[in-house]
Amino acid sequence: MDLEARLLHCMITLQGRSLDAATKRVFGNDNLPSEMEYLSAYIAAQSRGAKMAPGSAHPKEKASFELGKALFFHRAGAWDFSCASCHGEADKRIRMQDLPVLSEPKFARPVMATWPAYRVSNSQFKTMQWRINDCYRQMRMPEPTFASDATIAMNMFLATTGKGEPYRGPGTKR
Ligand code: HEC
Repeated sequence: MDLEARLLHCMITLQGRSLDAATKRVFGNDNLPSEMEYLSAYIAAQSRGAKMAPGSAHPKEKASFELGKALFFHRAGAWDFSCASCHGEADKRIRMQDLPVLSEPKFARPVMATWPAYRVSNSQFKTMQWRINDCYRQMRMPEPTFASDATIAMNMFLATTGKGEPYRGPGTKR
């Protein structure tokens, strides 16, 4: 589980909420952030200074990493894009935004150490699930299910690629 999947799990199993109720408003807007965003910001901040160390010993952890890696390079959708279409080559930009090569530790480390983050262009606090969703939107792919195995696997791949970096979020992004 990633942070948000764990929060959702606890909301359902410990607080007794239904999946529908707990995922009704996972992304906020500039008037009102969501509960998931408030909690992600607070909990992520408790890890400041800790080196990112996602598990890699359990077969399910290995399988999740491999799934995330496969999804990262998987081309699909109307434009036949994969994540690597935009995040696969150094020194590329879109709208003055640098596009980090997220399959390489050098680039993944600073990125993964600073999510979730306040995003100036939205004037909003955003979670990693949102970041993955919005890049799928940029690829013209269907919106992934919140906290699905696929988004968790993507997060696992990115966090494992960025492992060892001391966490210094929540960050600020353009
Ligand atoms: C069409 C181009 C495009 C594709 C394809 C794309 N992204 Fe992105 N991505 C961007 C842009 C542009 C940004 C910079 C921020 C913005 O403009 O939203 C970004 C930012 C990010 C960031 C944050 C980087 C940082 O500096 O914090 C992550 C993580 C990320 N993308 C992951 C992914 C993943 C995972 C996929 C595949 C599911 C993907 N992206 C596919 C264009 C793309």
